[in-house]
Amino acid sequence: MAVAGGLQLSAPSHGCQGQVLLSSTKSTLFAGSPLSFSLSTYGKESFCRKNLVVFARRLSGLEEAMRIKRERETRQLAPKIGRRPPLRRGRVSPQLPVPDHIPRPPYVGSSILPEIASEHQFPGSEGIADMRAACELAARVLESAGKLVRPSITTNEIDIAVHQMIVDAGAYPSPLGYGGFPKSVCTSVNECMCHGIPDSRQLQSGDIINIDVTVYLNGYHGDTSKTFLCGEVSESIQRLVKVTEECLEKGIAVCKDGASFKKIGKRISEHAEKYGYGVVERFVGHGVGTVFHSEPLILHHRNDQSGSMVEGQTFTIEPILTMGSIECKTWPDNWTTLTADGSPAAQFEHTILITRTGAEILTTC
Ligand code: MF3
Ligand code: CO
Ligand code: CO
Repeated sequence: MAVAGGLQLSAPSHGCQGQVLLSSTKSTLFAGSPLSFSLSTYGKESFCRKNLVVFARRLSGLEEAMRIKRERETRQLAPKIGRRPPLRRGRVSPQLPVPDHIPRPPYVGSSILPEIASEHQFPGSEGIADMRAACELAARVLESAGKLVRPSITTNEIDIAVHQMIVDAGAYPSPLGYGGFPKSVCTSVNECMCHGIPDSRQLQSGDIINIDVTVYLNGYHGDTSKTFLCGEVSESIQRLVKVTEECLEKGIAVCKDGASFKKIGKRISEHAEKYGYGVVERFVGHGVGTVFHSEPLILHHRNDQSGSMVEGQTFTIEPILTMGSIECKTWPDNWTTLTADGSPAAQFEHTILITRTGAEILTTC
């Protein structure tokens, strides 16, 4: 069954290929006791017994103070470095209106998930300017949405801002009403790997959030996403986010006219594996243009897919990496998809245009 965020592959993927990346443990913060070390060092020197006792007492007082300080710091750090509480759903507010004069994509008004179009997308010389404009708008909206990310903002507030920017530009927010999706943008927090529905949950320091913006402008869709850091994010999660972005860049770097699609998954997997991260197989990139989701499906994991890229075609690459399992579970809302083991996931997405010598990223501003 297919949806995007990419598109969801119908056949559930086999076995967990993800590896657990051990983050630094709390115990390292307590390693070693400087007191015994200092005493034995100075003990061998010319201190008389009395001096030594006074020194030892002073040191142990100092040591005790340092221990308390360290403990206090660790307690404050704990929520950042420890396991975060599982994501819970908030309240979803009523659907926002879109002004009547804005043209809707054909799926709006039906709650049935559209089929994935079989035609690859080629905007051609007539459509490329419109495709560029749609992609640029999506990138600009995403950049502005990213600036809103901070502790206490709700994902619903991000949705309202994104919705407003898109309709102000005379475009339609593609997710709104796509297969019944109730909001204008996907906001996927922490272990949510994709298709999070904006709701009343406030972001917290230490969260990561993927914002996935798609706009429909002058008959073309532009689709792009990034994962943003909220407040103080642990170093291990920051690294996941950075490596995921690098995976997207490396996937794009192999693209050009005549290159085989399977190179994308090979290159992305090689990079993710270096860090022990899993590459989610269930959600894939897709052709994008006059339709939101079409073939070719772009697999981000190692695969044997046939077919090669053709100059002038447009599609997305949108890898999702996890620190643990690559298996997913979906909430009863039928959209919000989390890692099965609750480990954090990150995603980045661009819409690209294949050229004779490479690929042009269309979703930039
Ligand atoms: N933007 C997603 C993609 O990358 C699709 C989201 S579909 C929605 O393909 F309905 F969940 F919004
Ligand atoms: Co997409
Ligand atoms: Co997207």
